[in-house]
Amino acid sequence: MHLFEFHDLPNVPATIRLTLLDILAFCNGPVRDYYGDLCRTIVHEAETRGLRTVVELGAGTAPLTMHLAALPAARGLRLVACDLYPDIEHYRELTKRHPDQVQGIVEPVDFTLRHDWGPGVLLVLNATFHHIPPELRRQTLAALTQSSDRVLIFEPIQNNLVSMLLALTSFFPAIASPLWLTRPGILRRVLWCWLVPIAPLMFVWDALVSCLRQWSGERWQTELATIVSPDRKPQIATTIHSAVVRW
Ligand SMILES: C[S@@+](CC[C@H](N)C(=O)[O-])C[C@H]1O[C@@H](n2cnc3c(N)ncnc32)[C@H](O)[C@@H]1O
Repeated sequence: MHLFEFHDLPNVPATIRLTLLDILAFCNGPVRDYYGDLCRTIVHEAETRGLRTVVELGAGTAPLTMHLAALPAARGLRLVACDLYPDIEHYRELTKRHPDQVQGIVEPVDFTLRHDWGPGVLLVLNATFHHIPPELRRQTLAALTQSSDRVLIFEPIQNNLVSMLLALTSFFPAIASPLWLTRPGILRRVLWCWLVPIAPLMFVWDALVSCLRQWSGERWQTELATIVSPDRKPQIATTIHSAVVRW
């Protein structure tokens, strides 16, 4: 069963969608250094394979692109951020701030379809693959494979009770997120997290559904075996609360 997430509903207003993304970035940034860990993995992967372009797909507010742009070790990488619902203002601002390194694509990019990103491309997806409905997942894996030299998929939750309990606790950082003073959108977060406090509830619902939508390590193995040629060597590493899949 593929339950809905508020984030996937096309008629959810942008102000609420952005608040949900702010909460996610708050949980994964200041609350735990999750993005820092991911960026170290991305740089290592790009370096060891000689890839010069990193494309963040389903980027939302492009947390990985932002973190990478601030990382001296990633200086030689070209960074591209895109999404089906691009955060246009933010992507323009990112491109302006790092004109030699970052390209935020302001048109919608659907990663279930094949794209030509040029040579030497590493595609990265965080907290995003599980948004793809089951019937489109194989097509998406094929499209990602054909569009890149390497793919890195990160998921910060898993389909188990521990992960769901942790997902429930995300209600507290969600309530605290308006206090993230260095992040633009404070008034928006005050509105949706304090005055009309629906965003924390929507976020927790989405987090629980995200857990249910996760593939197990075995499922990843089986699915990739049918799509990816053996020379891409799929690697799947799961913990109780996260997954890193690469091929
Ligand atoms: C939970 S958010 C994660 C955002 C970001 N990766 C992060 O770590 O903060 C999932 C993102 O996937 C995007 N998305 C969902 N389906 C997509 C598709 N088919 N193509 C591109 N982006 C998609 C959504 O618009 C949303 O921004």
